[in-house]
Amino acid sequence: MTGRLGGSVALVTGASSGIGGATGRALAAQGAVVALLARRADRLDELVKEIEAEGGRALAVPCDITDREAATAAVRRTVDTFGRLDIVVNNAGSMLLGEFAGAPAELSDRMVAINVNGLLNVSRAALPYLVAAAAAEDGRGVADLVNVSSVAGRKAVAGGAVYALTKYGVVGLSEGLRQELAGRRVRVTVVEPGAVQTELADHLAPEIRDRILTGMDYTPMDPGDVAEVIVFATTRGRNVAINELLVRPTGQLL
Ligand SMILES: NC(=O)c1ccc[n+]([C@@H]2O[C@H](COP(=O)([O-])OP(=O)(O)OC[C@H]3O[C@@H](n4cnc5c(N)ncnc54)[C@H](OP(=O)(O)O)[C@@H]3O)[C@@H](O)[C@H]2O)c1
Repeated sequence: MTGRLGGSVALVTGASSGIGGATGRALAAQGAVVALLARRADRLDELVKEIEAEGGRALAVPCDITDREAATAAVRRTVDTFGRLDIVVNNAGSMLLGEFAGAPAELSDRMVAINVNGLLNVSRAALPYLVAAAAAEDGRGVADLVNVSSVAGRKAVAGGAVYALTKYGVVGLSEGLRQELAGRRVRVTVVEPGAVQTELADHLAPEIRDRILTGMDYTPMDPGDVAEVIVFATTRGRNVAINELLVRPTGQLL
């Protein structure tokens, strides 16, 4: 498939739904070969079929990124299959809202495990390949690490303290990595979406979900809106790095 990302290989975590699924589709539509990571293998298989039906190439890599060995193996499988890795989108995440006091420790452990340690596991395994792709003569002369944070990575709210901890962390990590990797031509982009219509809120306690949805007096974005932003960042010329993108639905205040 030709396109602005023809010849590039991308890996997207959390590709079984929401923003990750839309990003897998969007990168494939630009000509990238895509490795799709998440735990739900059936969803990934469906997306592979969809991308292939459109003339693209994709691989389902079922994986729990909180398992360091599994995350490392998933990155290696991608490179073994496609020979290189040019773009990584660290998108998998979990948002288990609710007041911190009195909440089970498992909720915060879970968010830290996925949003922080899972992201680190994938990044640690992937970075040597991104550096190699950026230096390769047959590549774009640049590689991309895209980390999906959130508006909650710039502004914390009551009931979202631990989620904010993880997403502020992603912003800080991204800036540190940006400085470490700039000389090696790996661009680091942090994307901070506001509300997006996905399955993210399905994992909330019903009373918390109802409270959030009742207070939402605007239309959330579609996952494809955020995917477009990620495509924008990854398709700039080699000397242009879009380091931070805050993107809200028009009506969202906070
Ligand atoms: N929706 C919003 O309003 C919003 C706003 C700002 C930021 N975000 C961020 O956007 C990212 C994507 O979320 P989304 O809104 O698209 O929600 P989503 O539809 O629930 O997607 C989350 C994805 O993460 C994957 N995932 C969860 N745990 C995983 C694990 N242990 N290993 C591998 N994959 C795992 C899920 O797949 P499996 O369950 O199949 O593993 C799923 O594909 C998250 O980082 C979220 O914090 C979302």
